[in-house]
Amino acid sequence: MSAIRPVKRRTIRDIRAAKGRTPIVCLTAHSAPVAGILDGHCDLILVGDSLGMVVYGFSSTLPVTLDMMIAHAGAVVRGSSRALVVVDMPFATYHESPEQAFRNAARVLVETGAQAVKIEGGAEMAPTIAFLTRRGIPVMAHIGLLPQSVNAQGGFRTQGRDAEAARLLVEDGLAVEAAGAFSVVIEGTVETVARDITAALAIPTIGIGASVACDGQVLVTDDLIGLFADFTPKFVRRYGEIGKAIEAAVSSYAEDVRERRFPGPEHVV
Ligand code: KIV
Repeated sequence: MSAIRPVKRRTIRDIRAAKGRTPIVCLTAHSAPVAGILDGHCDLILVGDSLGMVVYGFSSTLPVTLDMMIAHAGAVVRGSSRALVVVDMPFATYHESPEQAFRNAARVLVETGAQAVKIEGGAEMAPTIAFLTRRGIPVMAHIGLLPQSVNAQGGFRTQGRDAEAARLLVEDGLAVEAAGAFSVVIEGTVETVARDITAALAIPTIGIGASVACDGQVLVTDDLIGLFADFTPKFVRRYGEIGKAIEAAVSSYAEDVRERRFPGPEHVV
């Protein structure tokens, strides 16, 4: 089969093949310009439902809808050409039945051009993951701290603290791998658990708040660029102070308007 433009994006085969060879770099994007900046640096771009919190100002990811994800994912695909784009399935769009999951995941891939979806949950979601992967929908799994289950997990709490919880998390990893997931996000677990899951699985693990023991790392870009002044989670390293840079620019603009220094003669058309 020929294509008008050769496909240059990473594939799920590339991501799987990276395990044990090279750390996998993943960040979130929710807009075309940010996707364009990340594209040359990331293997994977995740259109995370964290957009509910960092873009829309909700206190959790629960209010995010499929239509919101589709709108942002389309922008991210248009803004990138090299990284594999994975889109979060939002809360209650895949829990009811494998058929519901397929219908909604297919909409995501068809309407956005993204390459894969991400689903939160371990062994309990394995039948759904198998249903999707057997029908041509690549799935990244997500185990450990599950933001969509914040109410059921009793808040944003570190997972795998005792031996039984740790054992169940390794079983979750094995179950999503057996179901056909091409990779798995491990969020908010103690280091030993992340290490055990990474050693037990043939697919890559992508950690967030799960230590360096994983095969790759993901962060919410807004956290790492320092967009928010008031809160930085413990597992985030801030690589920039973009919030402060925006504030300085806006403050200069406001002052120039008030002092009638902007627009200047060079801006008159
Ligand atoms: O929604 C998101 O951004 C995520 C990452 C935190 C992994 O799921």
